[in-house]
Amino acid sequence: MTKLGAGAILAVAFAAVSKASTGNSNLTVPPGAVYINPLTYDVLGASYTKWRNSSSGGFNPTNTAPPFIQIFDPSFLKITGQSAKIRQIASNPGFAFAHEAPIYVEKLNALFFSSNGGGTLGYSGWYNNSAVSMLNMTKVDMALASTTGNVNIQVETASRFCSVSIDYSCLPGLDLQVNLPDTVQMVNGGTGPYKGDLLFATSGRALLPPSIVLLNPTPPYNATVLLDNFLGRQFNSLNDVKILPGTDLIYFTDPSYGYLNGFRPQAMLPSQVYRFDPSTGQVRTVADQFVNPNGIAFTPDGTAAFITDSGMAGGFLGTNQTYPATIYQYDVDPSTQSLKNRRVFAYADSGIPDGIQLDTEGNVYSGCGEGIHVWNAQGTLIGKFYINSTSPEIIFTKSGLVILAEETVYLANIEAEGMDLTYNVNH
Ligand SMILES: *[C@@H]1O[C@H](CO)[C@@H](O)[C@H](O)[C@H]1NC(C)=O
Ligand SMILES: *[C@@H]1O[C@H](CO)[C@@H](O)[C@H](O)[C@H]1NC(C)=O
Ligand SMILES: *[C@@H]1O[C@H](CO)[C@@H](O)[C@H](O)[C@H]1NC(C)=O
Ligand SMILES: *[C@@H]1O[C@H](CO)[C@@H](O)[C@H](O)[C@H]1NC(C)=O
Ligand SMILES: *[C@@H]1O[C@H](CO)[C@@H](O)[C@H](O)[C@H]1NC(C)=O
Ligand SMILES: *[C@@H]1O[C@H](CO)[C@@H](O)[C@H](O)[C@H]1NC(C)=O
Ligand SMILES: *[C@@H]1O[C@H](CO)[C@@H](O)[C@H](O)[C@H]1NC(C)=O
Repeated sequence: MTKLGAGAILAVAFAAVSKASTGNSNLTVPPGAVYINPLTYDVLGASYTKWRNSSSGGFNPTNTAPPFIQIFDPSFLKITGQSAKIRQIASNPGFAFAHEAPIYVEKLNALFFSSNGGGTLGYSGWYNNSAVSMLNMTKVDMALASTTGNVNIQVETASRFCSVSIDYSCLPGLDLQVNLPDTVQMVNGGTGPYKGDLLFATSGRALLPPSIVLLNPTPPYNATVLLDNFLGRQFNSLNDVKILPGTDLIYFTDPSYGYLNGFRPQAMLPSQVYRFDPSTGQVRTVADQFVNPNGIAFTPDGTAAFITDSGMAGGFLGTNQTYPATIYQYDVDPSTQSLKNRRVFAYADSGIPDGIQLDTEGNVYSGCGEGIHVWNAQGTLIGKFYINSTSPEIIFTKSGLVILAEETVYLANIEAEGMDLTYNVNH
């Protein structure tokens, strides 16, 4: 059932707890992790040969073989613990099956996520839907326990076949379990569970409208659309979704990536963020002034919000590094739940900040160009899970932090735990 990935033998780290010099004290870091004291790298000098731009890979001054953990502040060790290691848990080279919309369903110990809609290796576009997959974390746990290296668990994939759709069951390593209904097109964002169901933001496809949709995570995998328009106008291409903690209010972002990535008509609304009240049906705009709003997250207490602006990535318009790769922070207005007092929380040094998640302590994790960047609640970059490839999203599970990196899924067995993303009827 479990087969070892090709990289398994290479990636095993046998090193015991290692010591890294920190200037005036020695820091004990997990095996394979490196401490990067910012003071050591503030001056690189005119003879430095590895100047980079945002698309040319990450900052890896120690030339450490990825994947590995970078520590920029000793406080990151509280998040990683002493034995954290990044291991591959699923892989399918050539197919970006592990993109975004991760939802961990604790009751099933299963992780659901979507493939890259409209991306080069997503096999989707104007005519083809993206795919939603499930990774059985019980199988992952069992496989990881049997080796110190990487594992490759086969994901179970659902897809909707259109008349000109790709047959995902023909792709190596994929196993068709169910067809999703026509209303579930280009899943890109996900959260919950919401009253036990998967809560997805779909980007829509061609003239099929983007939507907020509930999907039953168990057979018969039936779906219910909660919202697919703004008072009669189609959204552009919904990207990500979160529930405001302590409420049943659903917030979502609506950039123009459907058009920019070639699977939706030209945008007809500003790139903005909405708040939807499923009990009254009211939908309203709560934030604007973005190039392309992308990931969204709240603090565990629901008083502040984070929205990533991935404007630097312009789809067919190309990459413009003078555009935002920026996480904005807001206060949630207690009476209107609108987002106010926008300020810059962080700017990502590699790629764009895509999906965003918080742990129970309020540390902020975002999927960027070369891995996962982690900032503390005050906005200090404290560490990275350095993958060396685009890693759009992360999700906390009982087994650790799962990193979606398009063609590969990784797991880091860290000590931090994710904030509660669920909404239950008795919340
Ligand atoms: C750091 O560790 C090295 C090697 O173990 C040791 O020689 C040095 O004295 C230590 N420095 C401090 C400040 O503990
Ligand atoms: C960024 O770096 C990459 C790799 O070195 C290079 O191909 C690309 O042209 C650079 N982009 C810009 C805008 O300089
Ligand atoms: C990291 O990825 C870049 C391509 O983005 C590649 O050129 C480089 O060799 C990789 N580095 C390592 C250490 O694997
Ligand atoms: C859509 O699927 C068909 C196969 O059914 C494939 O030939 C085509 O390349 C796919 N389109 C994209 C954008 O991947
Ligand atoms: C996950 O795998 C375990 C072990 O094979 C199995 O018992 C369980 O039913 C599976 N869970 C799901 C949701 O398929
Ligand atoms: C699935 O169908 C059941 C039975 O009709 C219904 O109670 C449930 O609300 C449906 N779930 C979704 C997400 O549509
Ligand atoms: C990036 O955008 C700026 C501002 O609009 C523009 O001046 C510049 O020409 C653009 N650069 C590229 C490489 O497209």
